[in-house]
Amino acid sequence: KQFAIGIDLGGTNCRAALVSRSGELGPARRMATRIDKGLADFLQRLEALVADLLGEARQLGQPVEVIGLGAPGVIAGDGSVVVSPNLSPLDGQPLALTLTERFSLPVTVLNDANAIAWGEAQAGAGRELESFIAITLGTGVGGGLIINRRVWLGADGAAGEVGHLTIEPQGRPCACGSRGCLEQYASASAMVASARELLPRSKGSLLGSVAEGELTSARIAEAARRRDRVALAALEIAGRSLGQALAGIANLLNLEGAVITGGASECLDLLRPTMEREIAARAFAIPARRLRILRGTLGDDAGILGAALHGLARIA
Ligand code: BGC
Ligand code: NA
Ligand code: ZN
Repeated sequence: KQFAIGIDLGGTNCRAALVSRSGELGPARRMATRIDKGLADFLQRLEALVADLLGEARQLGQPVEVIGLGAPGVIAGDGSVVVSPNLSPLDGQPLALTLTERFSLPVTVLNDANAIAWGEAQAGAGRELESFIAITLGTGVGGGLIINRRVWLGADGAAGEVGHLTIEPQGRPCACGSRGCLEQYASASAMVASARELLPRSKGSLLGSVAEGELTSARIAEAARRRDRVALAALEIAGRSLGQALAGIANLLNLEGAVITGGASECLDLLRPTMEREIAARAFAIPARRLRILRGTLGDDAGILGAALHGLARIA
């Protein structure tokens, strides 16, 4: 039996686990991504996480053949990060090389959303679909395109960056250098930004009493379920933006599905009516009807699994 270490490096959290070729995950270990204390500190913690898992594998007698990493941003063919809008200290970092040299194992790196899409394609909501997009709603908005059961990387590995589709030409500035990107309206952090923007203008919101650092997309979803106006309006903005983006994607690619994942996908039921209304209003009827909006079924494990299975496939 062969094993990989799968790592899902997100904008806020990093999770990793041992994964067998048949797709079973060992217990996940986690750390905060935080690169604010410098890259050296971050790499040290990442390497400690990997070393822990290698130790676990040795104890279990499970030989690790490869390390598969999913990381935010555009990833070059050699496993280095070209540019990562929300994790800019990683720009230009040769992550594959660094980890290969440290552990003497092959290392493959995929964009984080591509890894999630691959995980959902292998064992999750995308299992029955030939072609779909996975959209992750987390610190940023990521996209992973599966076309004919393969990850579509594009000419430079930069395909699928759905989070940076323009929604508002003069809208909120984005870390990518543009303005009004989908990510600025539909990510978990954007939902918080929308609520903050709306709060001063509305009295009596349940969110008014939430402490500064505690306003999260989960809090917003909870308040929306209690019909709070500010929370509903923040989710309306997110749902509308996602629907606009998906209408364009449906027209462009005529996909079978959109698999929504990430922390803020917990409130997909609240986003769905607005998303579907926008898609119906903007896309051609045939691709709009074809596009099934599904919630990812693997939760936080999708990225770990996808990164690990991708690594194992590369060395096969
Ligand atoms: C990045 C993507 C990434 C997504 C989710 C976006 O800002 O451009 O590469 O997949 O965030 O982390
Ligand atoms: Na992607
Ligand atoms: Zn952007």
